[in-house]
Amino acid sequence: MERGPLRIFSGSANPALARSVAEQLGQSLGALDLGRFPDGEISVQIGESVRGTDCFIIQPTCPPVNENLMELLILIDAFRRGSAERITVVTPYFGYARQDRKARGREPISAKLVANLIAGAGADRLLAIDLHTDQLQGFFDLPVDHLPARQVFAEHFRYLGFKGEDVVVVSPDVGGVHQAKLLADELEAALGIVVKRRSATGTSEVLEVIGDFSERRVIIYDDMIQTGGTVLDATRALIERGAREVHCAVTHPVLSGNASERLAASPLTSLTVCDTIPVPEHKRFDRLVVLTVSLLLADAIERIHLDESVSASLHTSHYHQPRLFGG
Ligand code: R5P
Repeated sequence: MERGPLRIFSGSANPALARSVAEQLGQSLGALDLGRFPDGEISVQIGESVRGTDCFIIQPTCPPVNENLMELLILIDAFRRGSAERITVVTPYFGYARQDRKARGREPISAKLVANLIAGAGADRLLAIDLHTDQLQGFFDLPVDHLPARQVFAEHFRYLGFKGEDVVVVSPDVGGVHQAKLLADELEAALGIVVKRRSATGTSEVLEVIGDFSERRVIIYDDMIQTGGTVLDATRALIERGAREVHCAVTHPVLSGNASERLAASPLTSLTVCDTIPVPEHKRFDRLVVLTVSLLLADAIERIHLDESVSASLHTSHYHQPRLFGG
C-alpha cells in the first residue's frame, strides 16, 4: 500500500534525540508550536499540514512524567484531528511502566491506564526501547515494536575490548537475568546474578550473589537507573567478591534526586547509558558515557514506514561513537 509521506515530530521531552533521528532520515523535524496557556495548560499547534502523512511523534514519558505524558496525549489528539493517515508514538522510554500489576490490594495498574490513554487519544502504533517488562506490549491493543538497546551496548563494550572469559555480565536482580544472558552471549562473557529484595518503602538489600568475579571486569546490566540504589548495592557486593572493575550499562538514565552525586562518589568504574532520556548538565559526571539510540530508532522508523520487518533491523549496526560527559 502506498503510504503518505513520513514526518517526524518531537514533543518537549527529548528534542535532541528527535532531531538526531530526523537527521538520520534526511529530514528536519516537523513544525510544532508547543506552549502553555496562562493557567499552565498545554497548547499545541502543528505548523504544517499533516493530512495523509505517516507521522512519528517522539516523546519519552520521562520526568517531568505527567507533563510529558499529557503533552503526548494532546499531540496525538492534534494529529488525529489534523487527519494524519497514521500516528506512531515513539516512547524511547516508557514511564509509569513499573506499576504493571496489583502487588498489594487497592493499587492501580498505572501502566495499563497509560496504555489505554495513548490508544484512546488516537495513536495507531507504538515504538519503544527496553520496556520495563516484555509483557507491557500486551497492555496496548495496538501493534507495538519493542527494540532492545542491547546491540548498542554490545558494540560499545566490544569496541572497548570487553570480550571473553575476563568479563562477567551481571543482572542486578533476578528479573533481568534473561537480558543479561543475551548481552553476556554477545560478549562471549560469563553471567552473574545479584539477588536483591526490595522492601515496601523501595529500599533494596542484596541477599545473594551468584558467579565468579575474582579479578574479573564486571558489567552490571539493567533497563533503568533511578535512585542508583540497585547499582550501588550490586557494585559494593561485587567489589567485596573480588571484581577488578565494575562497569554499569543501563538503557534509561532516569537519575532521580542525588543519584548522580552518589554514583560519582562510588567505586563504580563507569556508567554507560543511552540518550532515551536527556541527561542535563548538572547530572553528568566524569565516568558517565552516553550512547545514542538515534540510529536504532531511525532504522526502525524507516522500516515501519516501508512496511518492512523491524526485527531484521536488529542485526545491523546501530553504534555511534559515544558522547562523553564531565571530566
Ligand atoms: C527494577 O526492576 C529495575 O530494573 C531497576 O533495577 C530499578 O528500577 C532501579 O532503580 P534504583 O536505581 O532506584 O535502584
